[in-house]
Amino acid sequence: MFDTVIQGGTIYTPESSLIGDIGISGESISEIKEGGGLEGKRTIEATGKLVFPGFIDPHVHIHLPFMGTNAIDDHESATKAALVGGTTTIIEMICPGSADEPVNAFAEWKELAGVGCCCDYTFHLAVVRFDDLAKEQLRELVANEGVQSFKIFLAYKGALDISDEHLLELMQMCKELGVVLTAHCENAEAIDVMQKKLIAEGKTGPEWHEPSRPRSVEAGGVQHLCEFAERTGATVYVVHTSCGEAVNQAMKARNRGVDVTVEAVAPHLVLDKTYAERPDFEGAKFVMSPPLRDKEEHEVLWNGLADGSVSTVGTDHAPFNFCGQKDMGSENFTLIPNGIPSIQERVDLVHTYGVCTGKFDLRKMVEVCSSNVAKKFNMYPRKGALVVGSDADIVIYDTEYVDTFKHEDGLSNIDYSGFEGMERKGRSEVVLLRGKVVAKQGKFVGEVGSGEYISR
Ligand code: URP
Ligand code: ZN
Ligand code: ZN
Repeated sequence: MFDTVIQGGTIYTPESSLIGDIGISGESISEIKEGGGLEGKRTIEATGKLVFPGFIDPHVHIHLPFMGTNAIDDHESATKAALVGGTTTIIEMICPGSADEPVNAFAEWKELAGVGCCCDYTFHLAVVRFDDLAKEQLRELVANEGVQSFKIFLAYKGALDISDEHLLELMQMCKELGVVLTAHCENAEAIDVMQKKLIAEGKTGPEWHEPSRPRSVEAGGVQHLCEFAERTGATVYVVHTSCGEAVNQAMKARNRGVDVTVEAVAPHLVLDKTYAERPDFEGAKFVMSPPLRDKEEHEVLWNGLADGSVSTVGTDHAPFNFCGQKDMGSENFTLIPNGIPSIQERVDLVHTYGVCTGKFDLRKMVEVCSSNVAKKFNMYPRKGALVVGSDADIVIYDTEYVDTFKHEDGLSNIDYSGFEGMERKGRSEVVLLRGKVVAKQGKFVGEVGSGEYISR
């Protein structure tokens, strides 16, 4: 007798999809039986629904001191939102200040997450400081805390950026330790020059954010990262890739043998730069970096996901309120805190605009929103798969659900939705985290703080 049986759904295993039952004992999957017939102390009916592994968001900011303010979510609000949207594990970016010791930063983020996280979590650690003490501590965190990925920013001059000298040495370290280096690819210096020029010309509105960091700057950042990866043999992962030029640079490098993976994020797949041109400063809601691009880039990214040049879909969830935060930049777009949150909407956006439009199938959706992330970041098959022995992180998905995206449905603390009024097809109807039901029909029903740190 299992603790819980999920009955009669179409189950997406790594090999196939089958109609049957999943038996859960404690926190893990004990049996998957085609045709059904398993018995449990409790059953959850899934007939007519799809059963997926819990989705994993590879790119989340929650505790984020950034651009003179702090992201508005805490771990509780952000991860409740994640869970009702079907995401059972997040990878949060630890973004310390340039004077902070990595060990202290890791402890600070882990403590905050430990109190509030409702879903499971792990971290990419941003390398902002790289003196001898920092280098020693980075090694310690890999050895003792299961940190398996670092993050660098080729952007945000004077705040989070890293010099080429340090980048090269860091990549050598990554290669030696088997750590994946995730990277925000732009060019901090070039952006700084362009921002100053635009502001001097009186071009101060949010619509000037995109021209201040054009596609060529992002593509140049990818090229630069890949050149260093080629030289050092490091494994690199390009976050929030917004355009074909940048994807092409990564693919050229991959063809030369560079181990490079490309991530897309939900806003770049469905929103375009005209949103940032909305009047009365509303465009500020749509300021993120790299910026929203021309609509034509959506197709390029969707096609990249379909053909495998783009491997994952994250969110880059970075919530800053329109009132009181985004408006810090009302006279100067360079002061608008960057970010468009989507931790709750990601999976349904991919379903609505990727699967329902025929860009790819449900299996691909599971890969790019879950299993590819788990594989890349060393959590597979504990996470990202419905197989015997994996954590019982399970989403029962209703493909027939139809609605629009609405801010009022959101559990994040943010005061707007970037997707307001857009068509929505599909919903994570029941979500289990390690065997416990934590979300039902858009409501959080779990226990605050029950998320666990995943040492990788
Ligand atoms: O606009 C963005 N992407 N904000 C969050 C920080 C980052 O660059 O990922
Ligand atoms: Zn970034
Ligand atoms: Zn980010």
